[in-house]
Amino acid sequence: MAFFMAIVGVFLILCFCSALLRWNEVRYRKKGLPPGTMGWPVFGETTEFLKQGPSFMKNQRLRFGSFFKSHILGSPTIVSMDPELNRYILLNESKGLVPGYPQSMLDILGKCNIAAVHGSTHKYMRGALLSIISPTMIRDQILPKLDEFMSAQLSNWDDKIIDIQEKTKEMVFLLSLKQIASIKSSSTIADSFKTEYFNLVLGTISLPINLPGTNYHRGFQARKNIVSILSQLLKERRASNETHKDMLGYLMEREENKYKLSDEEIIDQVITLMYSGYETVSTTSMMAVKYLHDHPKALEELRKEHLAIRERKKPNEPIDSNDLKSMKFTRAVIFETTRLATIVNGVLRKTTQDMELNGYLIPKGWRIYVYTREINYDPFLYPDPLTFNPWRWMDKSLESQNYILIFGSGTRLCPGKELGITEISTFLHHLVTRYRWEEVGGNKLMKFPRVQAPNGLHMRFSSF
Ligand code: HEM
Repeated sequence: MAFFMAIVGVFLILCFCSALLRWNEVRYRKKGLPPGTMGWPVFGETTEFLKQGPSFMKNQRLRFGSFFKSHILGSPTIVSMDPELNRYILLNESKGLVPGYPQSMLDILGKCNIAAVHGSTHKYMRGALLSIISPTMIRDQILPKLDEFMSAQLSNWDDKIIDIQEKTKEMVFLLSLKQIASIKSSSTIADSFKTEYFNLVLGTISLPINLPGTNYHRGFQARKNIVSILSQLLKERRASNETHKDMLGYLMEREENKYKLSDEEIIDQVITLMYSGYETVSTTSMMAVKYLHDHPKALEELRKEHLAIRERKKPNEPIDSNDLKSMKFTRAVIFETTRLATIVNGVLRKTTQDMELNGYLIPKGWRIYVYTREINYDPFLYPDPLTFNPWRWMDKSLESQNYILIFGSGTRLCPGKELGITEISTFLHHLVTRYRWEEVGGNKLMKFPRVQAPNGLHMRFSSF
């Protein structure tokens, strides 16, 4: 009898689940929507997406084509894996395809954050940002300090085992403090910033549940504390009347700077700068160290390029913009690393009105996941796509190929692209001219949803 009851129970549960799934499908069966499945009410297909990662996307593409509907990360979403369409979406923000990043990210990064603003406000904020990380700024202001910073950070690595994941994260964080507000790595302000900043980052990738103990709550609290530290800094700088040649100094400058920002805007710009360049640059640096370790020929070629630079210079002479220009293979290594590791899986957009896209009707407020990961492994663009082959980028025309969206495209093309490349190049310069390294076993790498080494990536360094 008990066995019979159990069977009936399982049967009823299965019926209930199947009815629930069916109801959810019917709910979203609006005329004109692309094919796809919506999963469970509220949760949608988030679990499958996070668990199966790229395979989930590839399976859905096999079933429904390169443009399908789903429900992931808390919202009905259209996934676009079509290279042509992806480009179109990124180039047409003005037609109502604005950034669609999660609410927790927008709340914590602030309402003047670049991803939260559109149209003329976005243009203005972006202009202000570009003015402080322009090629001239990189050449005259950023590079000399960057070289000094990397040189100091990479001293005393001889005969040490270093978790390169932790190290690159710490370095990028400290570098941003130095570039933004000339904050020294060893200062107390750097320490208090650090705890708050890591909480802020965690908060941006959490569910927006504002209850004590949640990552969102901690992230929001961290934002408040960071805003208060930065407000204090602005106050002190104004009171002192001193001029500061750092990013904050330029943003505060009211006479010569054509972009006049309020304090709130300045603070959100600073948070944007720290946030956007943090994981992208640190993860690319970490993966470059790993790929170069695994590919001695590429490392040899890279070292040759950097030793040639050193030969032209006095010992300890900093690198300059001409040296940077000559780092052709270094640039190729950076592009190949971002491609093969897929540092950014895609970007999110949201429709501001009902619109037609690819012959389908997309309702207002739906997310569009411009999923660019698969294009990184397209054998037509990249023969033998799973091989680390920086030489493929030595043909400069590949970088400007239309479907390559490693740094985005259109009005939201990454404004920090050249800054990021300069930072990683300077890091690699000091690394390969001073050290060789061996991986210490037991490291594990995860590629999705973020590239990370859950237990760290340990390398033993010795002087070169
Ligand atoms: C390897 C390094 C980097 C990669 C792969 C990368 C990638 C990207 C991508 C794909 C986008 C487009 C986002 C979208 O369309 O929604 C983007 C935007 C952006 N990136 Fe980067 N990025 C890198 C480094 C940096 C750095 C160093 C900074 C600044 C310090 C930066 C600041 C930004 C900002 C502010 C945006 C938003 C632009 C806008 O909305 O107008 N990035 N980045």
